[in-house]
Amino acid sequence: MPDLFEPVRLGRLLLPNRLVMAPMTRSRADRRGVPGPETARYYAQRATAGLIVTEGAQPSPAGQGYPGTPGLHTDRQAEGWRAVTDAVHAAGGRIFAQLMHVGRIGHPSVNGLRPVAPSPVRAAGRIFTLDGRRDLPVPRELTTGEVRETIADFARAARRAVDAGFDGVELHGGNGYLIHQFLCSATNRRGDPYGRDRVRFPVELCEAVAEAAGGDRVGLRLTPGNPCNDMTEDGAGEIYPALAAALAPAGLGYLHLAGVAAGTPLAGGIRRAWPGVLVVAPSTGGAFPADGGRAEGERWLRHGADLVAFGRAFLANPDLVERMRSGAALNRPDPATYYGGGEQGYTDYSVSSAARLPAARRG
Ligand SMILES: Cc1cc2nc3c(=O)[nH]c(=O)nc-3n(C[C@H](O)[C@H](O)[C@H](O)COP(=O)(O)O)c2cc1C
Repeated sequence: MPDLFEPVRLGRLLLPNRLVMAPMTRSRADRRGVPGPETARYYAQRATAGLIVTEGAQPSPAGQGYPGTPGLHTDRQAEGWRAVTDAVHAAGGRIFAQLMHVGRIGHPSVNGLRPVAPSPVRAAGRIFTLDGRRDLPVPRELTTGEVRETIADFARAARRAVDAGFDGVELHGGNGYLIHQFLCSATNRRGDPYGRDRVRFPVELCEAVAEAAGGDRVGLRLTPGNPCNDMTEDGAGEIYPALAAALAPAGLGYLHLAGVAAGTPLAGGIRRAWPGVLVVAPSTGGAFPADGGRAEGERWLRHGADLVAFGRAFLANPDLVERMRSGAALNRPDPATYYGGGEQGYTDYSVSSAARLPAARRG
């Protein structure tokens, strides 16, 4: 079994350890979706991760669901990200941008647009907007032409990301957002080829993004069976292994599974169908475990994962790698400062004296 602190190859990158900083929305971009200097500092502080995956960034205005999320569809946004990637690389790290299109989980008060989705099926629930919590609206069904335009938006954003210095991009295929909506029969009732074959959208999307950015620079995140954002999924045991098998020829950098327990039939089915690098985020996001999720991550390493992604443990511990290596206790994350705000709960988490970073690595 590989050790968390053993190097591993990911396409053209050699990662010095197997800890991935999981993507986490922090809602601190400006009104144009541009990340600022504090964001560069935040990620650079965490540059000892084998790989950082950023918060979800919208590939188009329609992809935005929450206030303060950054984009990757304008030159200004790319300039903001350039400062982030430069800071991470100067601190010795590697960083992928997560591309996230929310589909039906949006509201016109955030981006002025009616949300779009595979089918006009409303998600039960409310969404946080600048005017407080609002009911989610019924989304507008994308035409077949618009589905193809959406794929082109992702490909352009991926190219922009690589041009802004990112080492690659991860596509957010989970948590009830657009890609997940295409995969699920409750939210995809289309009669066109993207509905008759529900893996078609993610497969075409991955192929187009791989073409734009380089296959080894692309990862896909999946959260099979996650009920987040009013998803009800039956048949996860069939569709996810089928998707993994369909993606195998595209030569992607990695598949990223979140919230699937090691050793289950679903986990085994996906691992067998997927020949490439497998990143696993072991936690389902319940109460924060004192070990940050390490024990379950190491169990996953014994069940065929190549890398382990930690979310809140990295959020609260810039020096997570050194803390885990030395066995130092972990800071606990403060949920009150997850979204929006300034330095507090963002760049002011302490570094353990028991696990000091080398000076050159400090962000
Ligand atoms: C504040 C916060 C924001 C998140 N935003 C995203 C996101 O933008 N994209 C994503 O794929 N997952 C997102 N997640 C889920 C995390 O990547 C991770 O899967 C989850 O927190 C469980 O892992 P953990 O127990 O290690 O934190 C977010 C989680 C948190 C706590």
